[in-house]
Amino acid sequence: MWLISLIIITLTAALVLFGTRSAGKLASARKTETHMDILRQSERELILRAQLYGINEAMSYVQTLDPLIQEQFYIYNNNNDEIMSTFKAKKPFWIVQNRKTISNHNNEFYDRWGNYFRLEIEDVLNMPIWFSLSYSGYALRTFISLFISAIAAYFLAYQMCNSILAIAATVREVKNGNMFAKISGTFMENKDEVGQLAHSINHMIESIRDMRSNEQQLLSDVAHDLRSPLARQKLALNFISKKEVQFNPLKLNEFIERAEIENERLNDLISEVLIYLRAENSNTSISLSPISLNQILSEVIEDAAFEAHPQNKVIHCNLQEDIIILGIYPKLIRAFENVVRNAVFHTPMNTTITINIDNSDSHIVRIDIIDQGDGVPENKVHLLTRPFFRSDSSRGTVNGGYGLGLPICQAIINEHLGSLAIANIDPHGLKVSISLNKKK
Ligand SMILES: Nc1ncnc2c1ncn2[C@@H]1O[C@H](COP(=O)(O)OP(=O)(O)OP(=O)(O)O)[C@@H](O)[C@H]1O
Ligand SMILES: [Mg+2]
Repeated sequence: MWLISLIIITLTAALVLFGTRSAGKLASARKTETHMDILRQSERELILRAQLYGINEAMSYVQTLDPLIQEQFYIYNNNNDEIMSTFKAKKPFWIVQNRKTISNHNNEFYDRWGNYFRLEIEDVLNMPIWFSLSYSGYALRTFISLFISAIAAYFLAYQMCNSILAIAATVREVKNGNMFAKISGTFMENKDEVGQLAHSINHMIESIRDMRSNEQQLLSDVAHDLRSPLARQKLALNFISKKEVQFNPLKLNEFIERAEIENERLNDLISEVLIYLRAENSNTSISLSPISLNQILSEVIEDAAFEAHPQNKVIHCNLQEDIIILGIYPKLIRAFENVVRNAVFHTPMNTTITINIDNSDSHIVRIDIIDQGDGVPENKVHLLTRPFFRSDSSRGTVNGGYGLGLPICQAIINEHLGSLAIANIDPHGLKVSISLNKKK
C-alpha cells in the first residue's frame, strides 16, 4: 500500500514540478530583453514585408519565426477577424481567449494593395505565474494529475478505512468477551501493513485465548487436587468427633495422623502452586550470577542417590572439568532435583541413571538425564510440562507428586534463558535435556 501511495505522490509531484518549471521557464524566456528585441524587430519586419510584398508574404515570414514569438502575434483584417491562426488554432480555446484579453500593443498598417490590418502583440511582462501556468496548458496537466491522484488517494483511503473498520469491529467483539472473534476479509490476503496488522491481531487473540484456557485449566486442576485431601481430612475429622473413636486411642491416633497427613499435603500443594506461579511470572531480566555446574549436580546427585541406593539404582555422571554457568543456585537445584528424582522414581530396580554433560558448544552446556524406565506415551510427551499432568491417567498419587515438578523446571529454565527438551529413547527410557548459558 505504501508503495502505491509513494508512486502516486512521486508521479504527481513530478508532473506538477515539470509543469511549473516548464511554464516558469517559458514565462521568464519571454520576459528577457533579447526576447523583447527579437519581438520588436520581427514586428517591424512583418509590417515591412506586408507593405512591400503583401499580407501573405508577411504571414509566411511569421511562420518562419521561433514558435515562442509566433504565439504572441495576432493579425486582424478590417472586419476584425483574426487571420493568422495556423499556429494558435492548435491551442485549446480558453488559452486563445486569455491571450486576447491581455493584448496592449496596437499597430495598424496597410499592405502592398492598400488593405487594412491590425497587429496585436501579446504582452507577457505583467503575466502572473498562475497565468503562465495556464498559458501553455500546464495548468490543465497539473489539474489532471492532481485529479488522478485525488481519485487514487480516495480509493486507497477507502480500502484502508474499510480494513481498519473490520479490525476495530473484531477488537470490539474481543473486548465484549468473544475470544473466538477473528478478523477476516479479502484485505487479509494483501501483504501490506494493514494485512500484517490484522494477522498479528488474529495471532494475539489466539494467544490470549490459549492463555485464558491454560489459566482455567490450572484453576480447575488446583481445585481438583485440593478436593481429594480436603475430603479425606473432613472424613478423618468426622471420625475423630465420633464417641466410639474417642474412646479408642488406637483409632483416634490413626485418624489424627490421617488428618495431619492430608493437612500437610494441602500445604505442600499450595506451596508448589505458588512456586510454579512465581517462576512462571518471574522477570527474565533477573541478574544471573556465575555458578559451578559441578557443585549443583554433585549436590543433586548426592541427595538423589540416598533415595536410589536402597533400590539398587545407580546414578552415573561424566563430571569432569568444572563448567561455570549463569544462574540462580537454589532455583537450578530445584529444577535438576525434580528431573533426577523423576528418573530415580521411574527407572526400574538394579538399573542406572546416566547424566551426560555435553560441553562441546562454546556458549551453551547441555545436560542429559537419561533413565531406563518405560518413558511416556509418545502422544503425551509434549504435555509433560503442563501443570498437573501425570502420565498415569488416573491422576492418582502413584509417586505422591502433583505434576508440578516439570512445569516448575521449565519455568526456571526459561527464566535462565535456557531450554528444556524431553524425548523417549530406544529401547526404553526418558531423556530430559537441559541447556544453559555458560559464563563468557
Ligand atoms: N523419567 C520419567 N519417566 C517416565 N515418566 C515420567 C518421568 N518423569 C516424569 N514423568 C511423568 O511426567 C509426570 C509429570 O512429572 P512432574 O515431575 O511434573 O510431576 P510429578 O513427578 O508427578 O510430581 P511433582 O510435582 O512432585 O514433581 C509424572 O507424573 C510422570 O507421569
Ligand atoms: Mg516430579
